[in-house]
Amino acid sequence: MNTPLIDPFHRAVNYLRVSVTDRCDFRCVYCMSENMTFLPKKELLTLEELDRMCSTFVRLGVEKLRITGGEPLVRREIMTFFRSMKRHLDNGHLKELTLTTNGSQLERFAGELFDCGVRRVNISLDTIDEEKFAKITRWGRISQVLRGIDAAQEAGLRVKINAVALKGFNEDELFSLAEWCSSRDMDMTWIEVMPMGDLGNEDRLDQYWSLSDLRTRLASRYTLADLDERSGGPARYVRIEETGQKIGFITPMTHNFCESCNRVRLTCTGQLFMCLGQEDMVDLRAPLRDNRKGQGQLEAAIRAAIKLKPKGHDFDYSRQAVDGQMSRHMSHTGG
Ligand code: GTP
Ligand code: 5AD
Ligand code: SF4
Repeated sequence: MNTPLIDPFHRAVNYLRVSVTDRCDFRCVYCMSENMTFLPKKELLTLEELDRMCSTFVRLGVEKLRITGGEPLVRREIMTFFRSMKRHLDNGHLKELTLTTNGSQLERFAGELFDCGVRRVNISLDTIDEEKFAKITRWGRISQVLRGIDAAQEAGLRVKINAVALKGFNEDELFSLAEWCSSRDMDMTWIEVMPMGDLGNEDRLDQYWSLSDLRTRLASRYTLADLDERSGGPARYVRIEETGQKIGFITPMTHNFCESCNRVRLTCTGQLFMCLGQEDMVDLRAPLRDNRKGQGQLEAAIRAAIKLKPKGHDFDYSRQAVDGQMSRHMSHTGG
């Protein structure tokens, strides 16, 4: 029997987020610069290597696998990978296989994802206004995403909408987004914008809208009840008593949730980041490719990496300056 992965702060690591590509068909202003340089394809783990890597984590006790990117569904033949991960759901070792997507390719893939055992998807959508959507994503068209959301629901996938809270951008949609999600029976979560990656002209402090403020505004119209339930991620939920709708808050800036962190992140090149907000990283591609000493080498490298998991991130916007800024773009580690 394998001993579970426990970090130095006694946190059990049972959630792996895997970025399968750094590429994306959008260029969201808070995530990427317009002229991104992407990794050469030969740097990426192959689908077979991704399978071996994830299967090793599952053997070491990972129960939740979230596939991210960039945009995970633009990776060629990615359904082959989802199909092969289904075996871990079937034998009960994996409790959840899911993904975070911009929704652009869901019209094509929703049915297949359901067949692979995916039951829930998180779709990033910061606005339901066509023009604002085009502006924030630079390259996206909202109609394509809305068709993706329809397809996901028709396929039987539960949809959660993730909106990054952006000052002066979607503040005016606080109620309309909530009502729109509620009318379509979708959960929604707001996320505080984190200082990740150099964005060229975009200024983080200009973008930052704290969720404490957002919550106060929500409470000016509705009665909010704190909920204890968790979805396995960092979101904390409230229920709007008047409508019964649940709203999640992910607050890396105003309320650090690192003490309950249960996850690590694998990049598409096989680097393991133990925290989204720190540079600490361990290369797992070399032990994965070096099979002279067999499987044990990769397992030992993973266990050693977990021992290096830091206590938390150092993001901070206080005193009108951005501290803890990460040079890495969000698309590198998949959010
Ligand atoms: P659920 O299973 O639905 O609870 O998912 P989740 O909240 O773990 O995943 P999701 O991909 O929806 O996460 C939304 C966003 O929350 C991510 O893209 C990140 O921006 C942020 N986030 C998730 N995990 C962490 C974390 O460990 N640290 C920080 N700082 N942010 C995180
Ligand atoms: N801060 C917070 N969330 C971000 N995302 C991308 N960049 C940032 C950032 N700097 C979100 C996307 C998506 C998820 C993958 O990460 O909107 O929901
Ligand atoms: Fe692509 Fe998501 Fe980044 Fe937008 S936030 S550019 S959709 S990876």
